[in-house]
Amino acid sequence: MVMIKHSITLLFVVFAFHYSSSTKVTYNVLKFGAKGNGLLDSRNAFLKAWGLACASTNPAIIYVPIGRYLIASAITFTGQGCKSKSITINIDGTLVAPSTNYYAIGNAQVWIKFYRVNHVTISGGTLDAQGAPLWACKSSGKITCPKGATTLGFYHSQNIVIRKLRSLNSQMFHILLYACNNAKLQGVSVSAPGLSPNTDGIHLTYSTGITILNSKISTGDDCVSIGPGNSNIWIEKVVCGPGHGISIGSLGWELEEAGVQNVTVKTTRFIGTQNGVRIKAWARRSNGFVKDVVFQHATMINVQNPILIDANYCPNNNNCPNQVSGIKISNVVYEDVHGTSATRVAVKFDCSKGKPCNGIKLKDVNLIYGGQPAASSCSYVAGIASGLLRPTSCL
Ligand SMILES: *[C@@H]1O[C@H](CO)[C@@H](O)[C@H](O)[C@H]1NC(C)=O
Repeated sequence: MVMIKHSITLLFVVFAFHYSSSTKVTYNVLKFGAKGNGLLDSRNAFLKAWGLACASTNPAIIYVPIGRYLIASAITFTGQGCKSKSITINIDGTLVAPSTNYYAIGNAQVWIKFYRVNHVTISGGTLDAQGAPLWACKSSGKITCPKGATTLGFYHSQNIVIRKLRSLNSQMFHILLYACNNAKLQGVSVSAPGLSPNTDGIHLTYSTGITILNSKISTGDDCVSIGPGNSNIWIEKVVCGPGHGISIGSLGWELEEAGVQNVTVKTTRFIGTQNGVRIKAWARRSNGFVKDVVFQHATMINVQNPILIDANYCPNNNNCPNQVSGIKISNVVYEDVHGTSATRVAVKFDCSKGKPCNGIKLKDVNLIYGGQPAASSCSYVAGIASGLLRPTSCL
């Protein structure tokens, strides 16, 4: 009897909770003056919709219908002081940056920025930063070009979901998570030409609990880059190429630097990329580290450096007075990495003389180079190898 009473009370509580949490309010940006014609600046309309969603005591939805919405300058959505428990931004349309005047967003850090938000979801839609004129400026060697804006950035935020979002032709990084906790990116698509400069697909810094699933990233720089201070990162079913592959790094620019730990990268495919799975550290003094990393089930198709640790990174031999990296790299597993290498050295561990790599494990690595035997190269590295190994391990 007591049990039944309990269940009935519980049922009621669950029902009441469900009822109140499902009364969502929707704010359609068209109601606030947004125009889907690609010409009128809709920035203020988006800010008004955000303001109301943020002030709502119910979970809120911001809706962006089909159309092209010009966001003519950098925009920040702030979560400070928000009352709503969650905000979902459902996008059927495209947000576009100015097409020719790259200065309009090019000196801002981020074009579309979220700052200190909690429980924000972006679902669907396209972000088109129209970065080509800025890349042309940069490649012409002009020194007056702006640095360029990251397209979408979350800073100091928690419980973020980004699903089925497309990012096109960013001026700089496409998506950035900085000091975020618990984010899930799923079905994201990034597209920019292979020669577009600094257009990393997804860049993580000082973040924890980040999952990237079922995504496709074609760009001019790293597919996913994992900078200092990241932990508990899970990347699965991601296709990269063109671009520079999945990279932990660059690390060790700073003397005092937070480490990277617990990174899993599984079931990935790299097509014509510069690197497959890479760990990259500046040849500079640093107290940073990388540990507990798993690269599992990777397919390489014509990849220049399928497996690479480069702890002697120092482009043009600039800014590396000691020429030795202080980053400690340990406990890195490579398991079931197979396919084709575009260069003879398919496995390269170029570790630091000062802090050799250890606990490196190779298991079932099968990489071929144009039908010829590929090679491995090891310096300052210790570890173990098992299973089928082509090229032969140098560990
Ligand atoms: C490593 O990260 C995963 C998420 O990617 C998490 O589930 C797991 O608990 C973490 N392991 C440790 C030892 O923190």
